Amino acid sequence: MHSPVIAPSLLAGDHARLAESAAVVSALGISWLHVDIMDGHFVPNLTFGPETLAALRRAGCGLFFDTHLMVSEPGNFVEAFAKAGASRLTIHVEPPYDHAAVLRRIRDLGCKAGIALNPGTPPGAVEHLLAEVDLVLVMTVQPGFGGQAFRRDTLPKIAVVDGWRRQRGLDYRIEVDGGIDLATAAECRAAGADTFVIGTAFFKHPDKAALAAAVGSL
Ligand code: DX5
Ligand code: ZN
Repeated sequence: MHSPVIAPSLLAGDHARLAESAAVVSALGISWLHVDIMDGHFVPNLTFGPETLAALRRAGCGLFFDTHLMVSEPGNFVEAFAKAGASRLTIHVEPPYDHAAVLRRIRDLGCKAGIALNPGTPPGAVEHLLAEVDLVLVMTVQPGFGGQAFRRDTLPKIAVVDGWRRQRGLDYRIEVDGGIDLATAAECRAAGADTFVIGTAFFKHPDKAALAAAVGSL
């Protein structure tokens, strides 16, 4: 089982001071930063683009960019994000395109590859892709906005994806994203998750070091 990792979500940081928000994460000794990319089509919201990642890299940010592409046509963007400094590119299974081909391209570009599922998507939708990924992202809210309530009905899906991992000897990470705080992270950990995206609950937390330490020992 993978050790627990916290990935603070830049979406909940200060959008006028993104480099400073990222620096808060680095200063705590956290290695990962979750970066949400929304296209106003797959989800009804807009966020960052490749230039945002490139600018953070130019500003000296060395964090692992766990990049979550909530876009309808990820194949059009993976090259630009890889060039801009993405470390992982996670694409969604819901839009119709050749998921396996895009995942292979992501790896060819030198990035880790992830596949994401919305709360309403059954786990079987990603089953044929498990050998192509380093991470499965089980969305614990409907994507598009930070600050939503955790959906407990996603816990059985985490357990299914964890069961496949053990039965098939695969070693992808299982990430959860949406409404995660220490309490909901613990529930997801018990179901088999090991990678915890925390947006609102991280940037609003009065003692971020304590939160990071607690997640790290789940
Ligand atoms: C939601 C995004 C999340 C978001 C989570 O669509 O994918 O990464 O930042 O935010 P919180 O932790 O506030 O639910
Ligand atoms: Zn996300």
